[in-house]
Amino acid sequence: MINTNLNGNPFLFIKEPKALGPGSFEMAKYLVESTNIKEGMRILEVGGGSGQIATTLAKFWNVSVVTLEPWSDGCDIHLYAKQQNVENQVMALKTMAQSMPFTSCTFDAVISIGSFEMIANDRPVALTEMIRVAKSGARIGIAEPMCLPGPIPADIPDSETKRSFQECFATLNWNCELFSDHGLKIVDNYYFDEAYQWWQQYRINVSEEEQQFITQDNGRWISLGLVVGEKQ
Ligand SMILES: C[S@@+](CC[C@H](N)C(=O)[O-])C[C@H]1O[C@@H](n2cnc3c(N)ncnc32)[C@H](O)[C@@H]1O
Repeated sequence: MINTNLNGNPFLFIKEPKALGPGSFEMAKYLVESTNIKEGMRILEVGGGSGQIATTLAKFWNVSVVTLEPWSDGCDIHLYAKQQNVENQVMALKTMAQSMPFTSCTFDAVISIGSFEMIANDRPVALTEMIRVAKSGARIGIAEPMCLPGPIPADIPDSETKRSFQECFATLNWNCELFSDHGLKIVDNYYFDEAYQWWQQYRINVSEEEQQFITQDNGRWISLGLVVGEKQ
């Protein structure tokens, strides 16, 4: 039976939340709504992390979720799903988005939170796969760290963090063009107004170097954005 308690944002009521990126749980509900996720659907998530997003989605929207998690064996994701009584609706796979073991037209929606940007130069390959495994008419969406237009502030000293952010973060426009070039019809795209606030809240979870970057940037370049496209 569907759990209709969706008035709030169920992602923000997760006990002992383990978000692996800034604004992950804040952005999740916007992405779920924009990708038209409805009861009974089969969803693909790219970048499972702790599994809390997949489990919350399964539990509150009554969908099944396959979540790709190449960095771990998936045991913690399955354990969390079991604790939340949706064990049979969540499956983690140690698989990368660039090459997926699914037949074409398998999923009703594809989402990725704070993960697509990490695929860096392989994003076109991954997006091709995400589109291939989506059904016709399905929506494919990302919500993640994006940069604002313009160069990274020159007064921020060079560091590993600066180099990796520069390699991974793209502008909203860049992501929209990538989606359009792959034949998707863009249905939603925006930067989140609260982006820097969510970066600041996330700051306590990261290395000192990354903390310094977030402070020095002061919202001039780092942001968070959402892009959703529809497979024609
Ligand atoms: C910063 S974490 C975000 C996890 C989670 N979505 C969250 O917001 O808490 C990035 C995730 O991307 C996943 N990832 C990295 N490269 C990937 C790839 N090529 N294909 C699929 N997932 C990938 C990692 O396994 C990791 O879980």
